[in-house]
Amino acid sequence: MSESQDLLRVQTYIGKMPALPVTVTKVIEICNQPGTSPVDLNKVISVDPVLMARVMKLINSAYYGLGDKVTSLSRAIIMLGINTVKNLALSTAVVGAIGKGEPASPLNMQGFWRHSLGVGVTAKLIARKRSVDPRLIEEYFIAGLLHDIGKIPMNNVFKERYLAVLSRADRERISLADAERRELGFDHTDVGRQIGTAWNIGGAVIDAVSAHHNVGGYEGEHRDLVATVHVANYFMNLAEVGFAGDRFPGTPSQEVYQRLGIGLSLLDELETAVDTEIAKAEVFLKVVDERGGA
Ligand SMILES: [Fe+2]
Ligand SMILES: [Fe+2]
Repeated sequence: MSESQDLLRVQTYIGKMPALPVTVTKVIEICNQPGTSPVDLNKVISVDPVLMARVMKLINSAYYGLGDKVTSLSRAIIMLGINTVKNLALSTAVVGAIGKGEPASPLNMQGFWRHSLGVGVTAKLIARKRSVDPRLIEEYFIAGLLHDIGKIPMNNVFKERYLAVLSRADRERISLADAERRELGFDHTDVGRQIGTAWNIGGAVIDAVSAHHNVGGYEGEHRDLVATVHVANYFMNLAEVGFAGDRFPGTPSQEVYQRLGIGLSLLDELETAVDTEIAKAEVFLKVVDERGGA
């Protein structure tokens, strides 16, 4: 089958995925407008019990580690911040719509999501270490959580050929993205970008999804975020936290480390924190599970 037909099969698959719920689309739209207030957000969320339950569950989870139980939505929105609520709505909707692999698919979904959570929390820990604006920190987590999302449709659509991709990467000791390109003509960052476009994700998260294996070639405005996800991905592959098919990810360049002002030694420093943070962040996947959507 030719490359373009293969790409078309993935596009068709993406086209058939359930659309983002209307409320989620509205939340994203409202949050992207300058000057949005927690009151505006409250109005949209309070009409959607599912989303409201997710926000309340998150604010009261170990992830935020607050002492007293928060019971009012408006207070939760103020505490989480507009950006976090947007990211929560977005990520749980994406995981809900696409998160499950098909039975007996080549990539183990448990390993995949553990890797994704690991990259999310590591990206966040690196950002914290670099004193990134706290309002942007959650974006680092979500970008890491979703960075490999393009692998899921490939894994589900091609099955045996994706198994061939995985073994080729191992056999030739090349990165998974290289093996995908050699075997299928495109890679999971291309597919990730398509998902992002289909759902109008936009901005920082979609840049991290599309450029995490090509930091050098990325010239957009979210360079620190893209570089951080790239490094976090390398760290989690090296530390073997979860597994998303990549045994030979490219080593980050000196420029990337310099840009972020960190080095490989940071991995040792973060090791224990990563485990604890993953356990707390699992709530992002669980809030979806409870609804039966993922
Ligand atoms: Fe990747
Ligand atoms: Fe990855």
